[in-house]
Amino acid sequence: MAKLFTPIDIKGITIKNRIVMSPMCMYSSMEEDGKITPFHLTHYTSRAVGQVGLVMTEATAVQPEGRISAQDLGIWSEAHINGFQQLNKQIHTCGAKSAIQLAHAGRKANLESTIYAPSPFAFNERSKQPAEMTLDDIKTTIDAFKNAARRSKEAGFDMIEIHGAHGYLINQFLSPLTNKRNDAYGGSMENRYHFLSEIIEVIKSEWTGPLFVRISTDEYHEAGNTLENIFYYTNRMKEQGVDLIDCSSGGVVPASITTYPGYQLKRCEAIKNEASIATGAVGLITSGIQAEEILQNNRADLVFIGRSLLRNPYWAKAAADEIGYTIDAPTQYKRGWK
Ligand code: FNR
Repeated sequence: MAKLFTPIDIKGITIKNRIVMSPMCMYSSMEEDGKITPFHLTHYTSRAVGQVGLVMTEATAVQPEGRISAQDLGIWSEAHINGFQQLNKQIHTCGAKSAIQLAHAGRKANLESTIYAPSPFAFNERSKQPAEMTLDDIKTTIDAFKNAARRSKEAGFDMIEIHGAHGYLINQFLSPLTNKRNDAYGGSMENRYHFLSEIIEVIKSEWTGPLFVRISTDEYHEAGNTLENIFYYTNRMKEQGVDLIDCSSGGVVPASITTYPGYQLKRCEAIKNEASIATGAVGLITSGIQAEEILQNNRADLVFIGRSLLRNPYWAKAAADEIGYTIDAPTQYKRGWK
């Protein structure tokens, strides 16, 4: 049997195959309100109809000041729950499971309002200077993740992913390039992990389901987190009960990245072995054969598909056809599936 289409159980939730729709910002909420729109319902449901096993939302802001743009999706208030309930109903009707990526942009927020970061340094010359977070700001933000987890549960999501990658707020705390604090949240590697550690704990107080964390496994900078630092973080996450590390890279500081098929896989595989934790592979995984190779060689447990799913909502069927495997059609499409 093709491993790509073998179900997987994560903390009692069964995903019917190993294909995850990678989180991708659509900047499609109405100006300033962060709510689900008809576009989101169509966009995500199409991939569920297309037989993706796990449909993950784009980065969803836990606080308004944590948005990348004014059009970002958000879950910072009770008023957001209803739209996500509708979305989950549609995804579940099509046989897929759903996940929400909880996010805070930190210094990469492109907003009129004050923006925040562990240390007061702008991302580049075009971006705004963030305010250095006080201990109160840190506490408020951690609480926002907690409330977002509670709302995610009410909204009917099956899984939560914490966005700890791409140079957004959590990554800004983790990285020595962006965290120059000298309190309990900065300095040593242990202290830089403190913020994420507390976020995981508060989420666990509201959420007993599967929990993923996306991290940047490589910062493409000699003074950035080393692979040893990354192993420390992933081992800690495992101890804290995180179920899967979604292995991405980059975004902490401006850097040129050479990309090629599976360019983030080496570290994904290394983390899977070092921390004995499930991993998700992502980055230029475009074909069924490539995805099957990754899974069969135990380099990852799930494959996250981004741009290929934008181009083709039926990527799962194309991948199955490519490896000579037959997947079930949505009931309504049976007459046209072969
Ligand atoms: C992204 N990516 C991304 N990642 C993330 O963690 N949260 C997000 O909201 C977004 N937003 C986003 C928007 C768009 C339009 C793209 C193309 C990408 C990164 C994405 O999830 C994925 O990691 C990369 O695109 C690499 O995978 P692919 O596209 O090569 O399969």
